[in-house]
Amino acid sequence: MQITVTVNGTSHVREVEARLLLIHFLRDDLRLTGSHWGCDTSNCGACVVWLDETPVKSCTVLAAMADGRQVRTVEDLARGGVLDPVQRGFAECHGLQCGFCTAGMMMTARWLLDHHPEPTAAEVREALSGQLCRCTGYENIVRSVLWASEQEAVLARGGDPPEPPADRRDGGDTASPRPAAPASGRDAS
Ligand code: FES
Ligand code: FES
Repeated sequence: MQITVTVNGTSHVREVEARLLLIHFLRDDLRLTGSHWGCDTSNCGACVVWLDETPVKSCTVLAAMADGRQVRTVEDLARGGVLDPVQRGFAECHGLQCGFCTAGMMMTARWLLDHHPEPTAAEVREALSGQLCRCTGYENIVRSVLWASEQEAVLARGGDPPEPPADRRDGGDTASPRPAAPASGRDAS
């Protein structure tokens, strides 16, 4: 069957099998490999993308179901070579280790901050509760999302944009301590 799917703003027309899952369409047909396929049980959430502005586990959606609809993947987070604050948060707060879960985590986090710009740690945990990380223990993932929230609040107030991570600055000291978790009732613990 033929489908037309707009992915990250670009329309794609493809012949697909009716049984093809959206995650495989994205990775194998479009070569957008940022989203991962991590389980056969719809548990892990490594495959989360947006379908018409809503995060979905793309292993639970047929490519045919995306016909005529909009999909957004992790490849669309950075714009013009500038990382999304959520991506910066994961870098600043060491929100990943192997990175397998990270694309899905960031797509859900971006959606959360778009709809609820200043969540508590508990609200971040709830939003991400359908997704698994096998490495980090979640503490730094929550810190990463809260960091992005704080930075976006600063920018919205007209403050200075955040400094890049220390290890990305010329001559930066890679041993510099990471910034503290956001304070004031939004503790990640
Ligand atoms: Fe694990 Fe989709 S691949 S939930
Ligand atoms: Fe390895 Fe999350 S960073 S699974």
